[in-house]
Order: sequence, then C-alpha cells, then structure tokens
Amino acid sequence: MSEEVRFRLQQVSCFYGGTRALHEVTMDIPARGVTAFIGPSGCGKSTLLRSLNRMNDVVPGFALTGRVLLDGQDIYSSRADPVALRRRVGMVFQRSNPFPSSIFDNVAYGPRLHERLSPAQLALRVEEALRAAALWDEVKDRLNLQASMLSGGQQQRLCIARALAVRPEALLFDEPASALDPLSTARVEELVLELGRSLTVVIVTHNLQQATRVADRTAFFLLGRLVEYGPTVELFTTPKDSQTEAYVSGRFG
Ligand SMILES: Nc1ncnc2c1ncn2[C@@H]1O[C@H](COP(=O)(O)OP(=O)(O)O)[C@@H](O)[C@H]1O
Ligand SMILES: [Mg+2]
Repeated sequence: MSEEVRFRLQQVSCFYGGTRALHEVTMDIPARGVTAFIGPSGCGKSTLLRSLNRMNDVVPGFALTGRVLLDGQDIYSSRADPVALRRRVGMVFQRSNPFPSSIFDNVAYGPRLHERLSPAQLALRVEEALRAAALWDEVKDRLNLQASMLSGGQQQRLCIARALAVRPEALLFDEPASALDPLSTARVEELVLELGRSLTVVIVTHNLQQATRVADRTAFFLLGRLVEYGPTVELFTTPKDSQTEAYVSGRFG
C-alpha cells in the first residue's frame, strides 16, 4: 500500500553562488498530513522549503540540481510556469507580511490575479478563506479595516487566509509562529494541524515541541544533509541515527 505522494525530491542540491547549502536530498512528501523540517540554524531547512515552490529563483546566484516533482511533474523543467506553481503551492513566512490594504483586499488579491470571479463569488471566496484560517468570526464585521490594524497573531492568520484563497494543494510554513506570543502560537498550530487534513502542509520549525505537536512526519537536517526522516513519534522516541538522537534530546543546536 502506498500513500499518495505530493512532492518527490530526487538528489536535490542547492547552491548560493559557489556554496552548497543542500547535499543530494532525496525524500517523498505525502499529499496529506503535516511534514516538519527540523535542524540547527543554517542547516538548509528554509532553502529546501523554498525550493518546493521556486521561491529561491529570485536569489542571484541560486542554483538547484536534482529533481523536484510535484504530482509527478518536474517543477524546474523549462516548460514549468513558476507563477502557476506558486498558486498551487502557497507560502507563509515567519513575519506576517500583509499588504498595506484592507482585510478583504488582502484575501482577494490572489483570486483577483488568477481567476475571474464575480463580486459575489469573490466575496464568498474571501469568506471561505477567512473561515479556513479561523479568522472569520473576528473580522467579518470589519472587512474594510486596514490589515495593519490587526494583532500580530491575526495578521499571521490573515496571511494564511491570503494563501488559502487561491485554493492551493500545498502550503509551506517557514517558522510561522516564531514571532508570536504563546496563545497566538497555539492558534496557528491548531490551524496547521487542521489544514493538514485536506492539504499538503510542510512546516519549518526550530521548536522541537512544536514539531511533536503538529507533524505526522519529521525530517532532521544537519549541515545541508537529510540525516533522518520518518514518523514524528519514531524520530523523537527511537531515532535511528546518533546525531538525530543528540539533537532531539537537546544536546546540541
Ligand atoms: N540568500 C542567500 N544567499 C546566500 N546564502 C544563503 C542565502 N540563504 C541562505 N543561505 C545560506 O544557506 C545555508 C542554509 O540556510 P537556510 O536554508 O536559511 O537554513 P535554515 O533555514 O535551516 O536556518 C546557510 O549557510 C545560509 O547562510
Ligand atoms: Mg530558516
């Protein structure tokens, strides 16, 4: 029995200028559930995450070798369209970055860019995305408010709603809660768990507890190499590699 695979990485290496940031990473990321990338700062977690929707393309001197397949298609092939890719694979960053516009316009941005919805359809889509991001009840009466007026945690959920509004297949989170207070962090974690039921969710976190709370599978990286990848419970309780064991038990990093 095989699980449906969303991303298949085959010997992926990444370079910034002449410096190699990732060494021949090979792994499958299933279509459902949450996959966490953990490891010490600088080990290549963000680089790998950003290679899943070609966010690194804009970095001068960036190069990738190997293959990244999304639903079986090579996303780096000359025929692949990065704009269409980023619609299918959304991203949420560490610092919430709402546009300087209203709550409604933030969420409507993607559908307006990619689709031709009637005003009524657009309003429904915005509501759908805000509900999915667990923000609807807090903002439904003030959709014209500037996004910057929201709290930090609400702004981060707004960014999640913005990413969801184009109905992506996958959502990438790069330390989405590291700038948030504990309550807001808990809400984002709940959301990550919930979204993993219907989407492919990949989350970079330096918070090991967070990985154990949200991730079905965890991948541990060290110095640009994938050291160990497996069910989160196994990786944390019965790691196969001594470096993984040292890391998850807090002996370094
Ligand atoms: N834009 C960049 N230009 C040059 N080097 C970079 C860039 N981004 C990351 N790197 C380097 O690539 C390596 C991996 O970085 P990163 O993927 O950000 O690690 P992590 O997210 O695990 O902290 C580090 O050595 C980092 O300095
Ligand atoms: Mg990072």
